Amino acid sequence: MTLGSLQAIVASSTWQLIVLRSGRFVAQPLMKHTLLPWLACPTCHAALKEETRVERDGEIEEGSLLCGGCGAVFPITEGIPRFVASDEYASSFGHQWNRYAELQLDSRNGTRFSEERFRSITEWTREDLCGKLVLDVGCGSGRFAEIALADGAEVIALDLSRAVDACRRNLRAHPKLHVIQASIYDLPFRDGLFDVVYSIGVIQHTPDPHQAVQRIAAKVALNGRIGLWIYELSWKALVGTVGFKYLLRPMTRRCSISTIERWAAFLERLCRPITRWGRRHGLLGKIAMRMLPVSCAHLQSIPLSETDFQEWVRLDTFDMYSPAHDHPQTFRRVRGWLVDAGFRPDPRHPHGGISITATRLGERAVENP
Ligand SMILES: C[S@@+](CC[C@H](N)C(=O)[O-])C[C@H]1O[C@@H](n2cnc3c(N)ncnc32)[C@H](O)[C@@H]1O
Ligand SMILES: [Zn+2]
Repeated sequence: MTLGSLQAIVASSTWQLIVLRSGRFVAQPLMKHTLLPWLACPTCHAALKEETRVERDGEIEEGSLLCGGCGAVFPITEGIPRFVASDEYASSFGHQWNRYAELQLDSRNGTRFSEERFRSITEWTREDLCGKLVLDVGCGSGRFAEIALADGAEVIALDLSRAVDACRRNLRAHPKLHVIQASIYDLPFRDGLFDVVYSIGVIQHTPDPHQAVQRIAAKVALNGRIGLWIYELSWKALVGTVGFKYLLRPMTRRCSISTIERWAAFLERLCRPITRWGRRHGLLGKIAMRMLPVSCAHLQSIPLSETDFQEWVRLDTFDMYSPAHDHPQTFRRVRGWLVDAGFRPDPRHPHGGISITATRLGERAVENP
């Protein structure tokens, strides 16, 4: 790499080094060989063998993973192992996390919103994650993986949709990051592999939430921990923002992505005078924001620029009207699922929605590779 071939070397933090050439990123994280021992065939759970076609700086850009048991072949494209052939029902998420890729990352918007959200949902400290093998299920654009990485965890960030591409770009060449496109229902790992598994804002967007919890719970090691945040089924579904959502979703979720984009942008503009007022008027402002057909009240006190605020409202409004699935749950039910799966749930956390953490009972039998 000569000086002439570079426009700039930008160190965006102690662990991110991005090389720009002609204004484009050239250093992107690819699949690391160290990921392989953690992977298993999602169908028969046998070990996988890698076949590298294109390698860059010791990492795999293009290739495939072959199952030694059933012979299945999984492609590695653009540096990401793909265990699904498409986004399936989650294409709206693939769109939203690439369209608004960086918006919610604390490192980009200058707030600590995602970190505070992560801490209040899980109540995990840095010590709980440092040095642990962690699975982020439904990683989206990677805002919570960013927190776990900063805490010193080795993170496998997984999503069904093309959100994984945004996550990979966002978190760049972090030495402890691995990104995978796969489904909760067919996780490519052996059971009991992870010290910590979390899934934030995902379970309600799957077709069978109970089975989704069972599948991810199985991947937690004995004495390992799970953390979930799930929409809660409550009276709020009948009024205000959430009421609008469940009233309109039967129509909106059938619309094309571009129509829902326009719908979210239209609503955001329509409600802007009230959201502007609401941001400056404490409790009264929050109540007014809660009555709108756009998702905004939770952003009231975050020190976002006006432009970022408007974009965020559009993103969260798109996120509210577009998903194919939205199945809120009760705390009792989710707690019961975890108990049935052999977990000891922690006392309920005060964060809104269903915030629940639990520990898998028993001694760890096998060390991670
Ligand atoms: C609301 S987003 C949450 C993203 C991220 N956890 C966050 O809070 O920023 C839900 C994510 O779940 C993913 N998802 C939905 N069904 C999934 C499945 N079966 N397996 C893996 N990910 C799934 C979607 O693609 C989407 O990125
Ligand atoms: Zn197999």
